[in-house]
Amino acid sequence: MTQITTEQFQTWANYIYLLCGMRLVPEKAYLLQTRFSPLMRQLGCSDLDQLYHKVVSDQTGSLRMAVIEAITTKETYWFRDGTPFDILQRSILPELIKARSGKGTIRIWSAACSTGQEVYSIAMIAKEAMLCHAGIDITILGTDISDQAIATASYGRYTDFEIGRGLPQERLDRYFYRDGTAWRVRDELRVLVHFRRLNLMQPFAGLGRFDVVFCRNVAIYFSQEDRKRLFERIAEILQPPGYLIIGASEYLTGICNQFQAHRCQTGVYYRLATAPSRQQTPPAQAAVGLAAIR
Ligand SMILES: C[S@@+](CC[C@H](N)C(=O)[O-])C[C@H]1O[C@@H](n2cnc3c(N)ncnc32)[C@H](O)[C@@H]1O
Repeated sequence: MTQITTEQFQTWANYIYLLCGMRLVPEKAYLLQTRFSPLMRQLGCSDLDQLYHKVVSDQTGSLRMAVIEAITTKETYWFRDGTPFDILQRSILPELIKARSGKGTIRIWSAACSTGQEVYSIAMIAKEAMLCHAGIDITILGTDISDQAIATASYGRYTDFEIGRGLPQERLDRYFYRDGTAWRVRDELRVLVHFRRLNLMQPFAGLGRFDVVFCRNVAIYFSQEDRKRLFERIAEILQPPGYLIIGASEYLTGICNQFQAHRCQTGVYYRLATAPSRQQTPPAQAAVGLAAIR
């Protein structure tokens, strides 16, 4: 492999930031080679400069998308980290259902859903809650910057290997059926979910408001400033008493003062700070946040 020059690194780091908000640090410069090698081979580029010129001069936008596909990390699995899903099932949904007297719609957003495992994990819990509360509807929106991830999620078809990562046998039997050598999500879950492409660095236009937001394992790729802005914007679209669930290794303390940590039986909640200490959002947009135990 050829050495990446400081100039090449800077050019690509700036471009990747513009495309998806990811902050590439110099220690991770090797990612440019490991992630872009297949694309370079496919396009017949001998180095990163050639690839860059091809991508920026491509009028169709398809090479830009190929760069996003190559550089984003889509690691995900069923019921990842366990705790957030326990808290959704045992605390958040019961609280919301009680607050609505067992009637109405609850909207959940998985803000960087990758190939859909997070969305369908939420949907299984939602389905089970709806069976106990006939007056409650729960809908889940999954968004991601990756077209390929959204296509996989929408189709809802998973290999044995993917299924083997965290999906309990009982839920496999109940919510999936065999489709050739893979598994397909049953319609009873699919009717609860919708997917669309969305770059979290851009406005949340047309999303509406949500009761619960899962924003896990994506903000870790952003700068502290962009992370702060992202969580502030999420607070703005949360419907009181909105909940936010972040990744197991993430934290909001010192980043976003609109959320305050509170401990419950199985995890830590981030709850909105009281109105006087909030600088951005008026009391009407108060929200409650939650994070898995670290
Ligand atoms: C590591 S996965 C996390 C998936 C899931 N939330 C989980 O925790 O298992 C990160 C996802 O964030 C997406 N992503 C990266 N930058 C994004 C952006 N600017 N807007 C929306 N999604 C983004 C990637 O495409 C990828 O699917």
